Amino acid sequence: MIFYWKFLYHSFLLSATAIVVPQPQYSSCRCRPHENCWPTQQQWSTLNDTIQGNLVAVRPVASVCHAMEYDAKACNATTELWTNSVWRSAQPGAGQWENWEAWPEHHETCYIESPQSSRCGQGRISLYSAKAQTKYHIQKAVLFAKSHNLRLAIKNTGHDFLGRSTAPESLQILTHAMKDIKLVDDFIPKGAPDGKNEGPAVIMSAGVQLPELYLAVAKHNRTVIAGSSHTVGAAGGYIQGGGHSPFGAWKGLASDNALEFEVVTANGSIVTANSYKNSDLFWALRGGGGGTFGVVTSATVRTHTEVPVVVYNLNITTTGGDPRFWHAFSAFHAALPSLNDARGSGYYFGFPNLPIDQNTTVSTIISLLMFPEKTDVDEVAKLYEPLKTKLKKIGGVKVDSMPVPFPSVNSTIFTMLLSGSDADSTGSLSALLVSRLFSKDLMLSDGGPERLAKAWKSIRWDPFSSFTGHVVAGPAVATNKDIDSAVNPAWRKTVSHMLFGRGWKANTTLAQKKAMIKNMTDVEIPILRSVEGEDQMGAYVNEANGYEPGFQKAFWGENYLRLYKIKQKWDPKGLFISRKGVGSEDWDDAGLCRVMAYDST
Ligand SMILES: Cc1cc2nc3c(=O)[nH]c(=O)nc-3n(C[C@H](O)[C@H](O)[C@H](O)COP(=O)(O)OP(=O)(O)OC[C@H]3O[C@@H](n4cnc5c(N)ncnc54)[C@H](O)[C@@H]3O)c2cc1C
Ligand SMILES: *[C@@H]1O[C@H](CO)[C@@H](O)[C@H](O)[C@H]1NC(C)=O
Ligand SMILES: *[C@@H]1O[C@H](CO)[C@@H](O)[C@H](O)[C@H]1NC(C)=O
Ligand SMILES: *[C@@H]1O[C@H](CO)[C@@H](O)[C@H](O)[C@H]1NC(C)=O
Ligand SMILES: *[C@@H]1O[C@H](CO)[C@@H](O)[C@H](O)[C@H]1NC(C)=O
Ligand SMILES: *[C@@H]1O[C@H](CO)[C@@H](O)[C@H](O)[C@H]1NC(C)=O
Ligand SMILES: *[C@@H]1O[C@H](CO)[C@@H](O)[C@H](O)[C@H]1NC(C)=O
Ligand SMILES: *[C@@H]1O[C@H](CO)[C@@H](O)[C@H](O)[C@H]1NC(C)=O
Ligand SMILES: *[C@@H]1O[C@H](CO)[C@@H](O)[C@H](O)[C@H]1NC(C)=O
Ligand SMILES: *[C@@H]1O[C@H](CO)[C@@H](O)[C@H](O)[C@H]1NC(C)=O
Repeated sequence: MIFYWKFLYHSFLLSATAIVVPQPQYSSCRCRPHENCWPTQQQWSTLNDTIQGNLVAVRPVASVCHAMEYDAKACNATTELWTNSVWRSAQPGAGQWENWEAWPEHHETCYIESPQSSRCGQGRISLYSAKAQTKYHIQKAVLFAKSHNLRLAIKNTGHDFLGRSTAPESLQILTHAMKDIKLVDDFIPKGAPDGKNEGPAVIMSAGVQLPELYLAVAKHNRTVIAGSSHTVGAAGGYIQGGGHSPFGAWKGLASDNALEFEVVTANGSIVTANSYKNSDLFWALRGGGGGTFGVVTSATVRTHTEVPVVVYNLNITTTGGDPRFWHAFSAFHAALPSLNDARGSGYYFGFPNLPIDQNTTVSTIISLLMFPEKTDVDEVAKLYEPLKTKLKKIGGVKVDSMPVPFPSVNSTIFTMLLSGSDADSTGSLSALLVSRLFSKDLMLSDGGPERLAKAWKSIRWDPFSSFTGHVVAGPAVATNKDIDSAVNPAWRKTVSHMLFGRGWKANTTLAQKKAMIKNMTDVEIPILRSVEGEDQMGAYVNEANGYEPGFQKAFWGENYLRLYKIKQKWDPKGLFISRKGVGSEDWDDAGLCRVMAYDST
């Protein structure tokens, strides 16, 4: 039994994006390549020396397939690797999503599909990359960007859905090579009072990716709260945005488990942030978003005892378009709180309009919840009985289910979540999501699940399109509300984080793309947001729309003002700006020029 994130990602073949930006007035801009302030060859070369020859001039990866740069052999190799997300994560000249590599507002794209004769535009791919091997390299690159007033981009894996790891005309810091992992039995945070001991933990450098982390802790018979992906980074945008996990109900969010960060700040110093030292920065890094407060060089998180797991797979299927599918959808969501209270967490994938052969279409939900510290499959199966009874009563609903016991979290993760190909196969696609957090209270309320079903039913479901539900909050995430961190407070009330993506072809016209973005922000987000009301819940910063209206409130709720103040303290000049990140509203969309307040006159 294999479940792929691929299901989700193949269903939105998206491409370049563009938005209508009102013409702002600028008070100051960063130094740009055509200007006199741009560093000379000599100055770049000096930077290269100080970082031991790890500076590279960067072109988009598909440049070898175009115009003067065409190189048959290199183009062939690139074509083979085009959709390989592991390869993409290591390339300075690639992100994971085509739309965030391009800069369509400036007619700069470098699609592999474009004719060989067409020139390859740099787009949002950085001009130079500091391929950091050590934290000192990061320090030097930060100081260089600061002293030359350059746009800085931090790329870890390039997975970001909001375009936060690419930036036009920028110097990139690539953290990919920083792979150190060290387990300790007794972690003592720097500056902690005598006798303070946080117990077993893992210290990882900025470039560690999720499978590397899982394997390293499993070797010591431990486990760790992290996400479900072959290539996402563990210490970068993932944890700094909050970080959800298929074992969240058991041990909370990844950021709940953070004990300490080491950070290069905007003035180039290396500081420790934990509960005892620079605690405001520590608070902000646990959910305040990547690329905003400094460059994290390493993160320390708790490890947990390895335990057995029972995984429960339940599939719900109706004939395509049968309205009873949406009754089943309601029943399923109404059952989530009780499954989640038993510490079940995981995912479900919905395909409201799934053609299975020439003549047949079905509507289906495929769910997969993990129950840690369980060995008895019957005990877990029992939890599903009330739901199955309800589904039977609806009629016309086919239910297939199967519990599978696993000896460990490690085997569960690698068999159920990261099986199949060793890449996420996200590369070359483009990503725009619409997402919302939905509360446990909604699912338990009178008519709540039906209201949710009505909203999701009103979304347009093209053949093969899908939605994903993440049951990654609940028990431990809810109790962890006592942890004072910047993570969206809505997470503490959440039972499901739900999203869908929209797709288009590379040759879709700019006008069509703009219309799609507009429909997402003006129609589709409001449909989902209105289920609980604008003030009640919100969205998860790491898996949200790249044009999210009112992102400050949606991503951080009441925490935003405090985050903004911490940002001003640690980065008063805005060296670290990421799209839709804290303080990004003071800059234009590309982060190149400061924007004067629109309403100042
Ligand atoms: C296939 C797939 C599976 C996913 N699964 C999960 C999941 O299970 N749980 C979950 O919560 N999310 C998941 N996500 C979302 C994921 O958390 C975000 O895409 C996140 O932004 C990835 O972080 P990154 O560092 O790997 O990527 P990047 O795109 O490289 O970076 C993301 C942001 O963090 C910044 N950043 C990166 N490194 C640092 C650093 N060292 N210091 C400061 N800033 C930094 C970047 O500048 C950027 O702003 C998934 C995404 C994909 C594509
Ligand atoms: C940096 O130095 C290395 C090693 O000498 C060299 O290969 C590389 O091309 C240099 N980078 C730049 C941008 O000149
Ligand atoms: C490209 O690779 C394919 C195999 O993947 C090979 O058949 C072909 O000859 C290669 N072309 C060039 C120009 O190297
Ligand atoms: C964890 O799972 C992977 C994949 O199945 C396996 O290669 C590895 O040996 C496991 N580690 C331990 C300690 O069991
Ligand atoms: C791993 O830890 C679990 C829980 O503490 C224990 O039951 C098991 O025996 C350990 N396995 C090994 C190989 O040490
Ligand atoms: C950088 O900022 C930190 C924290 O504000 C401060 O302690 C340190 O002295 C500063 N370093 C430099 C080089 O200015
Ligand atoms: C679809 O229906 C047609 C006509 O009834 C039939 O000939 C064909 O075999 C069917 N195809 C499949 C895959 O069932
Ligand atoms: C549920 O559907 C998935 C995807 O089609 C399939 O792989 C799995 O075997 C199904 N589960 C059951 C219990 O039938
Ligand atoms: C906008 O979104 C709604 C909901 O998904 C859909 O029904 C409608 O067709 C969309 N309109 C356009 C113009 O895409
Ligand atoms: C766009 O590209 C797709 C293949 O990706 C092709 O099938 C389609 O015909 C193209 N559309 C136009 C208008 O060129």
